[in-house]
Amino acid sequence: MKPIRKAVFPVAGLGTRFLPATKAVPKEMLPVVDKPLIQYAVDEAREAGIEQMIFVTGRGKSAIEDHFDIAYELQTTMGERGKDMDLLDGTRLGPGACVYVRQQEPLGLGHAIWCARDIVGDEPFAIFLPDEMMHGSPGCMKQMVDAYEKVGGNMISVLEIPREAVSSYGVVDPGTSDGNLTEVKGLVEKPAVEDAPSNLIVSGRYILQPEVMRVLETQEAGAGGEIQLTDAMAKMIGQQPFHAHIFDGERFDCGSKVGYLKANLALALERPELAKEVRAFAVDLLN
Ligand code: UTP
Repeated sequence: MKPIRKAVFPVAGLGTRFLPATKAVPKEMLPVVDKPLIQYAVDEAREAGIEQMIFVTGRGKSAIEDHFDIAYELQTTMGERGKDMDLLDGTRLGPGACVYVRQQEPLGLGHAIWCARDIVGDEPFAIFLPDEMMHGSPGCMKQMVDAYEKVGGNMISVLEIPREAVSSYGVVDPGTSDGNLTEVKGLVEKPAVEDAPSNLIVSGRYILQPEVMRVLETQEAGAGGEIQLTDAMAKMIGQQPFHAHIFDGERFDCGSKVGYLKANLALALERPELAKEVRAFAVDLLN
């Protein structure tokens, strides 16, 4: 079984749910406490042993490239002023560890992944949707890679949500379960509540075999007029092992305003230097 060495980060979306904040600033650069969303995802990838980060970007996303680049002026000035260089930890990826490809038109998540096909090549790879923040230890992808090493094939991270909310997501048709792993018998993108096969939704982390790129090549537009990754994955079920992994941790949907605010509050309350003041303020405010 080939190890998971590469990860694709599709970051070419328009972020319309977060306007006006995302007019000039990429959604993935919004900070949770003091670190941009994209860096949480990259840290999670590195923890899982992933060596190469492939960013699928679009217009207006150059701040992401700058974030993971050397900042000579900043470093020199910080050095001269005796500032703590550890603040820049995690923002430098080694030579060759960062690759950027451009999705020229936001035609959907499936299309964004397909744009990375030449760099992914013929090996299994991970996908991270950086606006879904997976918070836990070990991280979500590390948990998935550990499970993948036992079962191989394709794996998606899933979450249980109230049934009436499933229509905004990709939904799993579940087979037999073993601990955190459930066999996937089918996948449906954004079904009506009455047609949904379960309340297990696909949640922002994937390990896929390279054959998915071949499926995406001929994939027609689906829900919302976009080329859907879920539709392409659905075609691979039955041909290769396919499992859903339930993450042991917490997920924040930072593409939505409420999810983003929850993430900021939850993470601030975990930071020893912030927790006391934030808690006192929150209690005051609620009273
Ligand atoms: P979303 O639908 O959550 O992101 O796509 P969005 O389109 O940026 O946001 P809204 O709905 O307008 O607010 C999930 C992920 O897929 C990427 C997004 O950047 C996000 O990480 N994506 C989506 C692309 O890279 N290209 C696309 O064409 C669509």
